[in-house]
Amino acid sequence: TREAKLDLVTKHIKCFPDFPSKGILFRDICPILKDPGALTAVIDLFEEHVRQTHPQVELIVGLDARGFLFGPLLAQRLGVGFVLVRKKGKLPGPTVSVAYKLEYGEAEVEVQEDAVAPGEKVLLIDDLLATGGTLYAACELMKKQNAEVIGCMVVIELKELNGVEKLKPNTLFSLVQY
Ligand code: PRP
Ligand code: ADE
Ligand code: MG
Repeated sequence: TREAKLDLVTKHIKCFPDFPSKGILFRDICPILKDPGALTAVIDLFEEHVRQTHPQVELIVGLDARGFLFGPLLAQRLGVGFVLVRKKGKLPGPTVSVAYKLEYGEAEVEVQEDAVAPGEKVLLIDDLLATGGTLYAACELMKKQNAEVIGCMVVIELKELNGVEKLKPNTLFSLVQY
């Protein structure tokens, strides 16, 4: 059942206080990847959501690096392609990029110019939503490419940081909330 799958996923999220810096409670998804049943449960739950809510999806777009762990598996299940949004300087050929703010300094995400077609219906996927800065930048990148973002999906949503507000009007689907 859906409840049993969610329970299995939750049991495989590990918690590390003060990583990578003091005051941060790091939610680690590595145990999910190590357990075939838990990983299958994640993909099952995402697949069910997409089939019910976004059957028109044409492309899964995953975020560097932890979005790459779930995105291709989901894309294969759905029978659609997978596109990489990478941190700057990793992709060959013509690219488009968007800068975004981190707690300290700036970063940039990038996609290959020909990876997404105008009007294409895309779903963005990452492991976790914190401030929303990363997913927001990826949404902006898709807008720049004239793609149609139909939703964002994460395994873990950190509610208190209110990233969901930053993503609006784009919607968020999350499996586990803290
Ligand atoms: C982490 C996480 C999300 C992002 C969430 O990635 O995987 O992508 O932070 O934070 P935000 O909502 O405040 O933007 P990070 O860039 O730390 O590294 P990664 O390469 O391991 O995914
Ligand atoms: N990325 C941003 N905040 C995080 C957290 N608390 N745990 C894991 N990854 C993160
Ligand atoms: Mg990340």
